[in-house]
Amino acid sequence: MEKKSKPPFYVTTPIYYVNDVPHIGHAYTTIIADALARFMKMNGREVFFLTGTDEHGQKVEKAAAEHGVDPKAWADRVVVRFFDLWKALDCEPDFFIRTTMELHEKGVQKLFQSLLAKGDIYKGEYKGWYCVSDENFLAEDIPLEKDGTKTCPDCGRKAQVVSEETYFFRLSAYQQRLLDHYRDHPQFVRPQSRMNEVTSFVRGGLKDLSITRTTVKWGVPVPGDPAHTIYVWFDALHNYLTGIGYDRDPELFAKFWPATVHLIGKDILRFHAVFWPAFLMASGLPLPDCVFGHGWWLKDEAKMSKSKGNVLDPSVLLKAMGPDPLRYFLLREIPIGLDGNFSHEGFIHRVNSDLANDLGNLVSRALTMIRNYFEGTIPAPGPEVPADAAIRTAFEETKERAVAQYEAYAVNKALEEIWAYITTVNKYLADNAPWKLHKDPALRPRLARVLRQAAGALRGTAALVAPVMPASAQKIWEYLGESGKVRDVRFDTLDFDAPGLGQSVRAPEPLFPRIDLKAFLADEPKTSKEIPMDEQKPTAPEAPVSAPAVPPAAPAPKTNLISYDEFARMELRVAHVLEAVKVEGAKKLLKLKIDLGTEQRQIVAGVAETYAPEQLVGKKFIVIANLQPAVIRGVESQGMLLAAVTGDKAAIPFFEADVPAGAKVK
Ligand code: MSP
Repeated sequence: MEKKSKPPFYVTTPIYYVNDVPHIGHAYTTIIADALARFMKMNGREVFFLTGTDEHGQKVEKAAAEHGVDPKAWADRVVVRFFDLWKALDCEPDFFIRTTMELHEKGVQKLFQSLLAKGDIYKGEYKGWYCVSDENFLAEDIPLEKDGTKTCPDCGRKAQVVSEETYFFRLSAYQQRLLDHYRDHPQFVRPQSRMNEVTSFVRGGLKDLSITRTTVKWGVPVPGDPAHTIYVWFDALHNYLTGIGYDRDPELFAKFWPATVHLIGKDILRFHAVFWPAFLMASGLPLPDCVFGHGWWLKDEAKMSKSKGNVLDPSVLLKAMGPDPLRYFLLREIPIGLDGNFSHEGFIHRVNSDLANDLGNLVSRALTMIRNYFEGTIPAPGPEVPADAAIRTAFEETKERAVAQYEAYAVNKALEEIWAYITTVNKYLADNAPWKLHKDPALRPRLARVLRQAAGALRGTAALVAPVMPASAQKIWEYLGESGKVRDVRFDTLDFDAPGLGQSVRAPEPLFPRIDLKAFLADEPKTSKEIPMDEQKPTAPEAPVSAPAVPPAAPAPKTNLISYDEFARMELRVAHVLEAVKVEGAKKLLKLKIDLGTEQRQIVAGVAETYAPEQLVGKKFIVIANLQPAVIRGVESQGMLLAAVTGDKAAIPFFEADVPAGAKVK
């Protein structure tokens, strides 16, 4: 009978805002997607994995302005952090989409235009509570206060009622179709609890959605009406189409659309499970099979986010131990769907017990014995006893169950299955004690059988863990003397008895060195200073999310401490201002010529909203003199002055005393 070919698998992550540098929370979604993509390939499916960055909108505009650069230059700078992190984590998307790419912008305009032509988009008037300071409409679910007004949740100022011309998407027309779809496709939103949340939201009634802004300039212009910018969510969601060739590569698009699974954090469920399917229905396109809302990684019981100052930078852990322990921990610790609390103690405990002890020891014990007792070649086995056969059967059952769990996106359960098997194999070795068998030449066929079974178990285990720990799996593969790539194994042909007899094994290096918790924690401050762009100020979260209330901000983690040596590397000096002028076209920036005693330099400072240029001439303040030069709005800055910053205001501490230019500040 001809085998039915499996359908292609298309997995996406949210596209991440470039107002922030990536942290463990962002890494989580991308790691899940990467592991699923790798698994599905090994399970015989054609795969497309898409991730990218969301580069338009007010958040990015604001972050760029705070750094005195234009939004595209800012995006170009931040996107590199994402490229680097995915590489360091061994995440291999098939395409990385940026919403500033022409292929995306064109696609969005085309989709907008066609919905306009068919009447699903129409021009109207939006009336809502508007924060003048933040230039933003408040989310509608922000309640009225006793005096009948509303307060901006971001800046705490009173909002005003304002009307603005806008284009609406006719969301209200899709209420029943959405409900029907949820009813007919109970797996459309997963886990089930999120489906209930979405259904009850839609049952509550849907209003038409304002999908353009005149106050935000940084975005895709409405075709033919450029005073309007397409709302960042209408723009962003369509990346799932433009990223696989919508209106550009019909063959690719036909193969992979509709998506198999959109992986998202639960914070953006409403956008993906309500607005997105309605946009697709309006465009006459089929809907994705599933929107999977995973849980949050919390730190000190609060959602990790830059604005709360409780984010963990994955690069610290990556530097210490490579990508696999972190990939394993994030996927093993919680089911996709629930929240998890990240603690270094929990992380290190799991790495030591599951990776260093269980898997790492099995690899090194088995290979060392093959090397010592059979001159490094996998022996021809003696006859089988029931305990040996049980190791094979257990593998076959484990493979079947783990594959089924991976297929159901229950990666933690797949890993549980695999680890139960590793325990079984470790016990088999302990029970059969090859080191004792070795002592009796008459038992050599028995010894050969036990080590042959161990090699088969290890080989199979390497393949099963490869989606989660690709680098370590490949190492085990090579230690066993296998050629080629473990990622090219296909689970349906993965056979326990396949390791080549007589194949030479290699000396294993410790795969997962044990981590000493105390030493690790003591060492951490040294590395955390390398958190990229820690000069970046937090930006306010975008208002309309369906997230539950988040506990109050946690105190900044003590692990942010730096050592005296690190502080001493900073060259702080007294600068005497010789000249000051405005930077053309940048309302916040001044260009200053400063005297540092031994030399004169030019710096650019974002203080123009507080100080007129002439106020600064003759003043003395502190600069960081050994900061790498940077070009800001086309002007080179050779250092940075220190100032207290609140909102748009900066206060520079000037020297009262008569100190010489260039004096060291310690
Ligand atoms: N740009 C939008 C998404 C548009 S998709 C068409 C956005 N970006 S974001 O940068 O804020 O990233 C959101 C995603 O990052 C979340 O949905 C989630 O996948 C991931 N996470 C961010 N913080 C997280 C945690 N603390 N824990 C787990 N995942 C988190 O929203």
